[in-house]
Amino acid sequence: MHSEMNPWSNNQTVDVDRLFAEFGIEPIGEVARRLPEVPQFMRRGIVVGHRDYSLVADAIRNKTPFHVLTGFMPSGLPHLGHLMVMKEVVWHVQQGGNGYVAVADREAHAVRGISWEKCREYGKEYLKALYALGFEGTTYYQSKNDRLKDLAFEASTKVNFSEMTAIYGFGPDTSLSHAMSVITQVADILFPQLDAGPAPTIVPVGLDQDPHLRLTRDVAYKLRQFTVEDRGDHISVRSKNAPEAALEAVHRAFPGSKKYAGHVDVRGLPLDRVEDAVREIEIAHGGFGFYLPSSTYHIFMPGLQGGKMSSSAPESSFGFYESEKSVRKKVMAAKTGGRMTLEEQKRLGGEPDACSVYLLNLFHMLEDDVELADLARRCESGELTCGQCKKETLERVNAFLKDLRDRMDAVEHLAEEV
Ligand code: TRP
Ligand code: SF4
Repeated sequence: MHSEMNPWSNNQTVDVDRLFAEFGIEPIGEVARRLPEVPQFMRRGIVVGHRDYSLVADAIRNKTPFHVLTGFMPSGLPHLGHLMVMKEVVWHVQQGGNGYVAVADREAHAVRGISWEKCREYGKEYLKALYALGFEGTTYYQSKNDRLKDLAFEASTKVNFSEMTAIYGFGPDTSLSHAMSVITQVADILFPQLDAGPAPTIVPVGLDQDPHLRLTRDVAYKLRQFTVEDRGDHISVRSKNAPEAALEAVHRAFPGSKKYAGHVDVRGLPLDRVEDAVREIEIAHGGFGFYLPSSTYHIFMPGLQGGKMSSSAPESSFGFYESEKSVRKKVMAAKTGGRMTLEEQKRLGGEPDACSVYLLNLFHMLEDDVELADLARRCESGELTCGQCKKETLERVNAFLKDLRDRMDAVEHLAEEV
């Protein structure tokens, strides 16, 4: 069992290389270079992997439509650990993406036993933070979105229990609501295409969420009426479960095409032209025409105390409205990559890569690449003491939080309107 990939476990120690080899996630490097501007989270090695991101990179470059969606489970107040995905969503919206954010209250209620009132209360804080960071687009609570629930039901016709067991390790005593929250997440990921039409969709998540993406890609494929394949000298449009009238419509859409039992062969047209036309025909005949969703995977920021960052370990992180005193205590007590004594630190220098203070800067607090490189250099050369470094970092954290809070207060009305 892939216990390290259980999205609900607290074990975040994932072996990135193994995941790539085992599950077919691609390193982000090459495809990132196709972007007109490589965002900080890719440059700095925070987003490490992807599935099918080239569809999205091309949409950004060519200014063609694409969606961006992610979801947050409101099992507690949002904190530092949620910032990365938020920034990724906002960045993609700024690149022209059509933005969606799901508040996964069904999941929080089913898996964590959070009351609906608390879901609402926490959910609002996530939405405030998102809007404060510049999000624009559609947000919803799973429990209040009827079209989502219908889509989840449709998706559930394509998934059986043995898949649930294989992917998530569900057993005979797994609650049905847990399975329902999984299929609701599948629907979340496909929802933008239902709402605003088929288009590449980027889902920025942490590595732990990949099982949901694998499942959703499988479901999206199964929900298609047709497959369209380049066979070299022709394009084969094959019916999987299309009504006969739809196959007939495909035949008519491409003059000169040949219709056989269950497939139509098209010649002399580029693949994407055929794909687009088939999608439209599919939708006209009651289908969805989904693109398989694309995803990016970021690594997790370690907790300030050196362990994992999680809501259940308050010292590992801080919330956006936490008091200055409490934040100071946590930052000043953070685990560093410094040496045992000041003398050693001066002689040997610190180890930024093993330091939660450095990583806090790398992930969120130092926007400027030159300043970040300078921090690493001062650390490694022994020029900077950890005490001084923490003080400087704390100033950045305080400024960041103050600004974020002001913005969150100012957008409160937006978070209430859903
Ligand atoms: N399961 C996700 C989590 O635990 C939350 C989530 C719900 C989500 N729906 C989603 C994430 C859709 C990405 C896409 O955080
Ligand atoms: Fe970490 Fe700063 Fe100490 Fe270097 S100087 S180990 S970055 S706290």
